[in-house]
Amino acid sequence: MTHAHPHTLHHGAQRGHHHHQQQQDDAGQAEILDLDAEVLAEHIAAITAWLPLKTSPRQIVDLGCGTGAGTFALLNRFPEAHVIAVDASLGHLQRLRQKACAQEADDRVRTVQADLDATDWPDLGTPDLVWASASMHHMADPDHALRNVHDMLAPGGLFAVVELAGFPRFLPENAPEDRPGLEDRCHAATEHFHAEHVPHRGADWGPMLIAAGFTLEGERTIAVNIEGSDSEAIGRYAFSSLLRIRGAAAQALPAADLAALDRLLDTDSPHSILRRDDLSVRTERTVWAARLS
Ligand SMILES: C[S@@+](CC[C@H](N)C(=O)[O-])C[C@H]1O[C@@H](n2cnc3c(N)ncnc32)[C@H](O)[C@@H]1O
Repeated sequence: MTHAHPHTLHHGAQRGHHHHQQQQDDAGQAEILDLDAEVLAEHIAAITAWLPLKTSPRQIVDLGCGTGAGTFALLNRFPEAHVIAVDASLGHLQRLRQKACAQEADDRVRTVQADLDATDWPDLGTPDLVWASASMHHMADPDHALRNVHDMLAPGGLFAVVELAGFPRFLPENAPEDRPGLEDRCHAATEHFHAEHVPHRGADWGPMLIAAGFTLEGERTIAVNIEGSDSEAIGRYAFSSLLRIRGAAAQALPAADLAALDRLLDTDSPHSILRRDDLSVRTERTVWAARLS
């Protein structure tokens, strides 16, 4: 997540611009998060089923919940549980709440808007399970966040950190025909951006959890490889993801690659990614389960 630079916040016009930009970013991200939840539903369910829990959790906190991929997977897996869903984005939380209402689960979910980079976190009770999926790597000071989780968990409680190795891949390696390998080059072009903005992406969370005082109960990596030839959701997921990557990659990409990327992203073009029938979703999710010792 990108934050407006603090000193610009005093300037009215700038603030309006950044606020608007942030809302647009959140809306773009919300769509990807919803598609990710839809396409990877079985894999997320498999992770919740794997968790080494001693008893069925009653109080769950979902940190950096986004639009609720984890929240709803956990509510389904643990019918007795209540979830506190925490995120910095009001838009994401509103979307999550709408979904909770539609599923008649709103009495089992509380949404809390909070910046988890702040020194003090709001009171999130004494959960017996804390879930953080693709959110811990966004923390400016992950060690501080892990210690906060350590302090709030109930005795014997479990902390599940779920992370992905990187953005999923969608195109075959020899695509597109005129610029084979384009997708890998797009990702390579974002490396500098990610190193600067999300340096903890791809970190090994095991040693960090142990350093924060947890006992590591297990670690598991799930390989995802979903063939998408007949899936409209996978086409939209690929389109939204590549559109977002374009923003971070554009400056570092050779002109011919950028033009090829734009053809894929041109929904009117015969080369549009939405018209391809050879897409798949290839990614990995790793979960670390840490117990309060
Ligand atoms: C990649 S999304 C993952 C969302 C969700 N957990 C999922 O698995 O689909 C990361 C989320 O972390 C949130 N986030 C990032 N930095 C945050 C912060 N400092 N405080 C609270 N939430 C934050 C973002 O708003 C976003 O919803």
